[in-house]
Amino acid sequence: MLACSLAAFAGQAAAQDLPFPPGFQWGTALAGFQTEMGGAPASQDPGSDWWVWTHDPDNIANGWVGGVPEDGPAFYERFARDGAVARNVLGSNAIRISIEWSRIFPGSTAAVDISGGITPSTLQQLDALADAQAVARYRAMLTALRAQGLTPFVTLSHFSLPLWLHDPIAARDALAGTSVGDPNLPPIPGPAGWVDPAITGEFAKYAAYIGWKLGDLVDFWLPLNEPVVNAAKGYLNGYASDAYFPPGAHTLSGAFAVLFNETFAHAAAYDALHQWDTVDADGDGQAARVGVAQNLGAFQPMNPGDVDDWVATFRATYLFNLLFLNGVILGDLDLNADGVISPGEHLASLTGRLDFIGVNYYERLLVRAMPESPLGFAAFTHYGTGQCPTVCSDTGSEIYPQGLAQVLAQVAPYQLPLYITENGLADADDDQRPAFLVQHLQVLQQAIAGGADVRGYFHWSLMDNLEWTMGYGPKFGLCAVDPVSHGLRPRPSAGVYARIARANALPADLVQQFGTR
Ligand code: FCB
Repeated sequence: MLACSLAAFAGQAAAQDLPFPPGFQWGTALAGFQTEMGGAPASQDPGSDWWVWTHDPDNIANGWVGGVPEDGPAFYERFARDGAVARNVLGSNAIRISIEWSRIFPGSTAAVDISGGITPSTLQQLDALADAQAVARYRAMLTALRAQGLTPFVTLSHFSLPLWLHDPIAARDALAGTSVGDPNLPPIPGPAGWVDPAITGEFAKYAAYIGWKLGDLVDFWLPLNEPVVNAAKGYLNGYASDAYFPPGAHTLSGAFAVLFNETFAHAAAYDALHQWDTVDADGDGQAARVGVAQNLGAFQPMNPGDVDDWVATFRATYLFNLLFLNGVILGDLDLNADGVISPGEHLASLTGRLDFIGVNYYERLLVRAMPESPLGFAAFTHYGTGQCPTVCSDTGSEIYPQGLAQVLAQVAPYQLPLYITENGLADADDDQRPAFLVQHLQVLQQAIAGGADVRGYFHWSLMDNLEWTMGYGPKFGLCAVDPVSHGLRPRPSAGVYARIARANALPADLVQQFGTR
């Protein structure tokens, strides 16, 4: 009798849909460089470091890059049609896009003086330097997406920089002789990108200008995408198979310089956006909310029985997940990365510069202590053996939904609203994506039921696109892209996503079919 009623109870529990909070934002995430080009030659943007990087003959010969942006899905032209798919096929009510800084300011803004702050006159000077057609195009894009009922979340620098700020080839060649532990960087004969602190002021100008020009259409801003990944993949090569981001360097001091400059730049952009985006686009009483899309890895010890691997795991979590957030939330800038905030490392100018945390979650990484390596550890995605430990995506990322709960718990103490700004996998035949979606969303739903203040979920990505140095091989899209027309072809998982988004809940039958029991 007891067994009978327990069984009935279990059946009933499984038959319940798992709800998400009212107003939850369901979307997909994209980035300009990865998706915009592929249409008319006039839509190409050769003015970014990533453009030059992906076309450079030496990089191609070395196998450091795998594709060019002009073979992309042409979002710069197709945004209205793709936005309609996001709305009507995927059931989304939000979308994350990025603006290409190099399109807005194809030439330098360095001559614009902001020593007295960013004033209306600064904005007029910037307006004279901006490419009016690019501004108009992004205005048209945002207007079209909003007309579909999609709330835009907008990234200002999704890895790419204008060439006038970063000559990636000059930097690559200058840094080539540097060994990883060298305390000083050699001079770079050209614009040095994120290692040059001057980037902070330029980023503030760009953010202020965009906030002023487009703030009536946007309330959610992400100045930076994955600042730690940007630093690690560009400046600590050898630690990831898909590294060799520009400038393809191998210098620990360079990586930290980038990370700290990104911290200052984020804070400056935060202030600029709050100053100059004064129009409340969605009528909720707040004109601008400024976050960061932070990659959070689920680090775990390679050997749970080895105390050194545990210490290394805490260190990896600190450096990769928390250091940047501590800077822009707490104002704690751990310049020597020793885990202790010493006098001089707490800065009021950084404190409280984050309104929400965007969580990019992809995978578990296993950490092994390695005293001889510059960080004292190495983090492996394939357990260091190249063999998938459980279930892996096409790119070898372990599919590990529980890791989402782990990283959400790590950022809970900051007490900020959270959005999942990226989560997804490369899965060309779409046989893993339905379960990936349902299982990650089960974990998310449970975290929310347990008190996590998560307000949205953006799947990476709406369509297949240029996966940085890996080219077009990895297929991250809920939709494939027709090679001739660039039309989006929804994969079966798009239907799964749409059912969840439309119901604002995980339907019980999907949990039954694909979920973790
Ligand atoms: C993230 C990037 C995004 C995309 C996904 C797969 O690290 O932010 O642009 O490449 O990985």
